[in-house]
Amino acid sequence: MSANTIEHNRRRFDFDGVDAIWLFGYGSLIYKVDFPFLERRPASIQGWARRFWQGSHDHRGTPEAPGRVVTLIEQPGALCKGMAYRVSPNVFEYLDVREKNGYLRFRTPMTFDNGSHAEGLVYIATADNEAYLGEAPEPAIAAQIAASSGPSGPNSEYLLRLADSLRQLEADCPHTFAIEVCLRGSASS
Ligand code: SIN
Repeated sequence: MSANTIEHNRRRFDFDGVDAIWLFGYGSLIYKVDFPFLERRPASIQGWARRFWQGSHDHRGTPEAPGRVVTLIEQPGALCKGMAYRVSPNVFEYLDVREKNGYLRFRTPMTFDNGSHAEGLVYIATADNEAYLGEAPEPAIAAQIAASSGPSGPNSEYLLRLADSLRQLEADCPHTFAIEVCLRGSASS
């Protein structure tokens, strides 16, 4: 699948008659909220784990030197904590452009912190997209992040802001925190 997913996403869902829909964010959508929303609540989705396995050629890297950003991989028993936003469907006209480098919208059930549930959408970059980089040792991921920068800023800022946001949400994400430790260690040595 081509890395530019705008047209794929526009064909995926018919929002006719829908006033508002929940969007689950687990990466930059937690802390970079440059879109209007009606309501926001901490939430989690089950069976998915956050991984810095997606390449960023347009935000935190360049086509020649991609950065690394998060996607979700299926992992039975895993719980991914993030932030859910109730948005008007027209917000996806903007978000599909922002998330165009490999992310497709999927339906997902989500659980709010008070135990209630809702159905909504989540952007996931699957392994068959051209920008996918895949698994690598966490120190190597940290080194790539330390060296990368793109139109949205340094890749390290993406990682550090995400790690801070996850701490605020009291989310356990050993993968993100391990990469953060490597990155901070390499910066101070
Ligand atoms: C998300 O935040 O939910 C998707 C990945 C990203 O934009 O960082």
